[in-house]
Amino acid sequence: MNKVIVVGSINMDVITRVARLPQTGETVSGYSAEYLPGGKGLNQAAACAKMGIETILAGCLGQDVFADRLYDFIKKLGIKTDYIRRCDKESGTAFINVAENGQNTIVVVPGSNAELSADKIAVLPIDRGDVVICQFEIPLNTVMETFAKAKKAGATTLLNPSPIRHIPSDLLAVTDILVVNETELGFLCGKKLSEQTSAEEIAAAANNIRPQESQTIIVTLGSRGALIAGQDVYFAEGHKVNAIDTVGAGDCFAGVVAARLLTCKDLRECVRTANLAASICVTRKGAAPAMPHHDELFS
Ligand code: RIB
Repeated sequence: MNKVIVVGSINMDVITRVARLPQTGETVSGYSAEYLPGGKGLNQAAACAKMGIETILAGCLGQDVFADRLYDFIKKLGIKTDYIRRCDKESGTAFINVAENGQNTIVVVPGSNAELSADKIAVLPIDRGDVVICQFEIPLNTVMETFAKAKKAGATTLLNPSPIRHIPSDLLAVTDILVVNETELGFLCGKKLSEQTSAEEIAAAANNIRPQESQTIIVTLGSRGALIAGQDVYFAEGHKVNAIDTVGAGDCFAGVVAARLLTCKDLRECVRTANLAASICVTRKGAAPAMPHHDELFS
């Protein structure tokens, strides 16, 4: 059986719950403050591991108290930690405010994630048929090197370019599956796309930036669901749930698509499973701890 390798960020999420988000210059009282494991890399690895898939996470932690807590959490999930380094910096930290209406703001301080240089991933055991995932909370050069190595080994590469920035054409060229939300897609194609934009318009925008026929773009549409762009656009409808915390939902989706690809060759089925997983994730607090277990998806 193949495995998923996630090369990405590990953060401690400092999550405050507030009635409403503060305006600029305003102070509001929060109800609670929690310290929960997060970071796009760890969230995606947690989503894969909970699907029962062998998962390696390559990342960089600091030397602080957060690092020990994060490492223990990763170990307990059964994620392989051989490629998690320690460096002389504070661990990545995300400051997240979640309002009663589900809106949130996030400030991420990369800390040790910025130290995940390409030489630290040089020895990754990537095999033909593995799925390799990256996001943009680690240095861009590391993402490029990882994907170049993955393609050489015959692995499938999945890029979740978040937080969004320009994707260099040589990185796009070695990306098999791009997973973006509608706002990120809007940035990439220079258009304003939002929850109000029709699925047809979003599919057309995605097809416009798809460099090659063989490449796939999956666009997540929040509670509406997700679509696979291509000649035959496929739309998978979302599940109606009472969302209390959407932080990490996109990571859940990307991680479950990657995990499911190892056992199911039908991408539409993978997207349907990922949609269901994300709809469970948003009903729970936190990011990495909110990822659903395999049995919740296939009962
Ligand atoms: O995608 C959600 C994640 O973004 C959070 O866990 C936080 O750490 C930020 O990186």
